[in-house]
Amino acid sequence: MSIIEKAARRIDQKKEAQASQPAAVLAADVPAIIDAESVETPVTAEAVHATVITPAPAAYAPEPALEPVPAPVERAAALPEISAEPVVVAETAPAPVKARKHSTRKVELDLNRMRDMGMVTAAGGRTLLVEDFRIIKRPLIKRAFAEPAIDQPPGNLIMITSSVPGEGKTYCAINLAMSIAMELDHTVLLIDADVARPSVLRTLGLPAQRGLMDILLDDKLDLADVMLRTNVDTLSLLPAGTSTPRATELLASQTMKTFVYEIANRYPDRIVIFDSPPLLLTSEAHVLATHMGQIVLVVESETTTQHAVKESLRQLEGCSNVNIIYNKTREFPGIEETYDYHYG
Ligand SMILES: Nc1ncnc2c1ncn2[C@@H]1O[C@H](COP(=O)(O)OP(=O)(O)O)[C@@H](O)[C@H]1O
Ligand SMILES: [Mg+2]
Repeated sequence: MSIIEKAARRIDQKKEAQASQPAAVLAADVPAIIDAESVETPVTAEAVHATVITPAPAAYAPEPALEPVPAPVERAAALPEISAEPVVVAETAPAPVKARKHSTRKVELDLNRMRDMGMVTAAGGRTLLVEDFRIIKRPLIKRAFAEPAIDQPPGNLIMITSSVPGEGKTYCAINLAMSIAMELDHTVLLIDADVARPSVLRTLGLPAQRGLMDILLDDKLDLADVMLRTNVDTLSLLPAGTSTPRATELLASQTMKTFVYEIANRYPDRIVIFDSPPLLLTSEAHVLATHMGQIVLVVESETTTQHAVKESLRQLEGCSNVNIIYNKTREFPGIEETYDYHYG
């Protein structure tokens, strides 16, 4: 066999090995994937695979109860100190719930386009990716409707965040939303809360529309005025909305806290997924996290450093139910793009 043939064979073997790996997995044991001796090196597949949740086929997966990282690490950059009161979900803290209207605006998701982009759709059949997200969603759904502990935000509010941009927050948020919406008895609202760089609509091939920012800026505007129903009956979208220089500041505001609380009251039977800003570039993501019942930290495989993951987990200390998705573990036909982030 010639050298060229050997090289070609090795590439084929590598591709085959990659194809059998999940694109994204939920890691169960965060401390185990972080080695205190080498915080600057990326989190590796080997470390995560040792902790991947493999659920029994007919039952829910065991809950990935994560311990906060014990030793605090030095912060990568000085972030302003924020004192954020957790949302108190109790009768003693009523929120101004507006009269319930129904959204009449509808958009058409191009499911074939989404499938070609390597995303979860009902049109796509049982692909490996559909399987990956079927496994990832189970413990999240289970916890979404469990009775929340007193003083804890409701579990149906799920925040998707990451340490830095480009790790796959939007990709995981859309796939998770679609995967949950494909189950008959679950309705999902996907909110684009990455207001400095909204990309849910763009990724779905839809034009920008009014949304979250408009509601926060105009108290006469109701959620139903800007929420979009889709051709997937169980999936609705709330776009990031009109861009404003105050976007990130608004995300950490009292108005946002009230809005999140209102959503939790209004849709206790719905899973609400927040595609959120990265933790290490903004302080607002940290504030938003305190209102959420579950957090999913997306970690890009072989790229994000252990130091970054540790620092993100430190920012999430005290938050309810922190999970990690170890993402991009297998190459997939995604959209290539350049990153031009401008977080405040
Ligand atoms: N598991 C994955 N497999 C293939 N491509 C992915 C995966 N996760 C993310 N991507 C791609 O990586 C890029 C960045 O992902 P994105 O979700 O936009 O990141 P973020 O929202 O965190 O900035 C996009 O082009 C997306 O399609
Ligand atoms: Mg994004």
